[in-house]
Amino acid sequence: MAKNVVIIGTQWGDEGKGKVVDWLTDTARGVVRFQGGHNAGHTLVIGERRQVLRLIPSGILRTDIHCYIGSGVVVSPTALLQEIDELETAGVPVRGRLHLSEAATLLLPCHVALDQARERRRGAGAIGTTGRGIGPAYEDRAARRGLRVADLLDPAHFRARLDELLELHNFTLQHFLQAPPLDVQQVADEALALGERIGPMLADVPAMLAAAMKRGEPLLFEGAQGALLDIDHGTYPFVTSSNCLAGAASAGAGVGPQALHSVLGIVKAYTTRVGAGPFPTELHDETGRHLANVGKEFGSVTGRARRCGWFDAPALARSIQLNGVNGLVVTKLDVLDGLPTVRLCTAYRRGGETLDILPFGAEAVAACEPVYEDMPGWSESTVGVREWSALPVNARRYLERIAELAGVPVDLVSTGPERDETIVLRHPFH
Ligand code: IMP
Repeated sequence: MAKNVVIIGTQWGDEGKGKVVDWLTDTARGVVRFQGGHNAGHTLVIGERRQVLRLIPSGILRTDIHCYIGSGVVVSPTALLQEIDELETAGVPVRGRLHLSEAATLLLPCHVALDQARERRRGAGAIGTTGRGIGPAYEDRAARRGLRVADLLDPAHFRARLDELLELHNFTLQHFLQAPPLDVQQVADEALALGERIGPMLADVPAMLAAAMKRGEPLLFEGAQGALLDIDHGTYPFVTSSNCLAGAASAGAGVGPQALHSVLGIVKAYTTRVGAGPFPTELHDETGRHLANVGKEFGSVTGRARRCGWFDAPALARSIQLNGVNGLVVTKLDVLDGLPTVRLCTAYRRGGETLDILPFGAEAVAACEPVYEDMPGWSESTVGVREWSALPVNARRYLERIAELAGVPVDLVSTGPERDETIVLRHPFH
């Protein structure tokens, strides 16, 4: 039986999942997005080309791969079509290989307006969202008033549902958030025009996935964001509005949990976070700036500078527990090259207690002080190293210590943005 793999970020997102997904599509035949929206951003570097993917799974660059967007994703037709156009202009065929669940919730301009107006209203207490409308779109889905992708196929029905939705949201925008209302006609015209282009991509994604599995095609379920941004288990309220754990792949794609055979956790060799919220190992010094500059830690969606800090074992421990991680991929090891000392946070101190796992909620995490262990760094470059034995001995010790603290083996080490800048210790699909 073919194996299916779920890949998830174990930190606060931006762990470098896109490159790993792209690498794994040597083996996978299909790639599935199951949550989030165009708040995600994977920058892929293929030869000379840099391509940012937001909604479309990273497998799209391989022309023999099918890509699926499950019903757990919130889909902005504007963002989706822009991405398709960019890819097709760059010579990547998308239509015919991208299958969009008819049950996915639509993310519309009113969601963007609400997200941005609310963040402004929160002022200093803002969450630091990507401003893409993700939260309001998920709210509408949960409130059962959301519009779904399939609604685009019936213009009269779409218009009636949109009237109802905008009656509510325009009221909030005008009278509570002091923001301009949206024009219903304009929103409907734009969405329906885009809908005509999206129509041919609509599919019964669960049925297609079931058929692919029956044919023995290995599937890759591609998580967006990171486990610590999970709506339930993350640093609430500084989280995104979806479940970003491995288990969400089952509900968000529409496959049974027994179809998820193994979980690959992506972890950066250090930690970053974009947006507000507690971050125990955050650095405000020269080393933090070094990580940001060498690691090019600027958001691929919003361009915001990411906050940087040391590796955090208690945070990883929580992710491993929540996701059932079977193997780790350590990314961006090369960013630590040249540091005389590398630090790992092995526990937190909170009041008189020592914790070895991240607690729940922002306030509890904010009260945690990191306990560090120092290891000697390495002066050699690890950029592009492809063999474990070619790594500096101190880099190997650092990775071994991460695996030891995690209690989970390291399957892959990523040593650069290119596909083949990868050390394979255990192939996740084998
Ligand atoms: P939202 O998902 O736009 O509502 O943003 C909520 C929080 O999640 C903010 O802190 C964002 O910076 C963060 N976030 C959302 N998507 C990503 C991502 O793909 N990578 C990293 N952080 C993200």
